[in-house]
Amino acid sequence: MAGHMKAAIFTKYGPPQVLVVQERAMPVPSPTEVLVKVHCGSVTTADVLLRSNDVPWLFWLPMRLMLGFFKMKHEILGNEFAGEVVSIGKSVTRFKPGDIVCGRASFGSNAQYRTLGENSIMRKLPTLDHMTKSALFSFGGMTALQTLRDIGNLRGGERVLVIGAGGACGTMAVQIAGLLGAHVTGVCSKGKKELVLALGADEVIDYASEDYTLSDRTYDVIFDAVGNRPASASWQVLAEGGRYLSLSLSARDFLWSLISKLNSNKRHYFGTSKPNQTDYDILCDWFLDGKINPIVDKVFPLSQIARAHSYVQTGRKTGNVGLEMEHTHD
Ligand SMILES: NC(=O)c1ccc[n+]([C@@H]2O[C@H](COP(=O)([O-])OP(=O)(O)OC[C@H]3O[C@@H](n4cnc5c(N)ncnc54)[C@H](OP(=O)(O)O)[C@@H]3O)[C@@H](O)[C@H]2O)c1
Repeated sequence: MAGHMKAAIFTKYGPPQVLVVQERAMPVPSPTEVLVKVHCGSVTTADVLLRSNDVPWLFWLPMRLMLGFFKMKHEILGNEFAGEVVSIGKSVTRFKPGDIVCGRASFGSNAQYRTLGENSIMRKLPTLDHMTKSALFSFGGMTALQTLRDIGNLRGGERVLVIGAGGACGTMAVQIAGLLGAHVTGVCSKGKKELVLALGADEVIDYASEDYTLSDRTYDVIFDAVGNRPASASWQVLAEGGRYLSLSLSARDFLWSLISKLNSNKRHYFGTSKPNQTDYDILCDWFLDGKINPIVDKVFPLSQIARAHSYVQTGRKTGNVGLEMEHTHD
């Protein structure tokens, strides 16, 4: 094993080009850590948001205080990974060298190797099969599961509208809402219609030819993974007692979540993703059982990290973007 590795290094907030591939010393696991040789990572909309720090004014200062004022506190982005345990600290019992694993951690996965505490969010995989997809189910999956189930309190038989049904969160929301027993309507562009139906949506609306806010149908839950229109615009298609779940931070929707409480029994909430092992296990079981399918749009090599970020930043991808770690020297 070489003493150095390659990683996508985040130098400062800015456009995709602030990301450069550099060599770093191979991390060494502490007695309670494992060293994972990462085969596949991902580039998500969260990575794009962190790198650009392009957030609404209301959230700008809290984000900078949390993540670093001029430069991020973490120099390597990437929150999902799949790979192989190559060495372990002397106290580690949960994993052994040779284990194939996938996992979720806030930062550090856009690198050829990474260390993690043995109690980090990880799962052993039975085989090397589906290595790429196993790195790509948790970002959208955790967000969709926790937002629909915990915040939206989605119940079987309810009607849910998924706006942005063709993206990372949307493709998972369609599948998970179906698993929770809901009737699912997806909103996406024409080119993604067949995919969204194949993922289990009962109906699909092409947003270019139909305005869902003018429909005479109502929905118990609206899962908005786009955020290009205010939540208030969809209020008339939200059923009595309905829940509007926004994934995008917006000062306008924040005010609406307060105002709407005064004169209606419909509620606006912001979505969330608080990764934990229990929900990761649920998602991983669903993935291994073939109940959820993480959609792979493109896989970029690590050396093209800036291109991967530019592509994700378009806001038009289909499902997920993977990052292949280009292990060539070891
Ligand atoms: N709150 C949280 O914890 C949390 C967690 C994860 C993500 N997020 C946020 O959630 C949002 C979605 O994330 P993501 O990773 O799913 O994004 P994504 O993968 O880029 O997906 C966005 C999807 O929206 C579709 N779209 C664009 N305009 C649309 C429109 N007018 N109507 C319907 N669909 C439209 C795009 O394709 P088409 O136009 O071709 O259909 C694309 O498939 C981002 O703003 C992200 O920052 C928040």
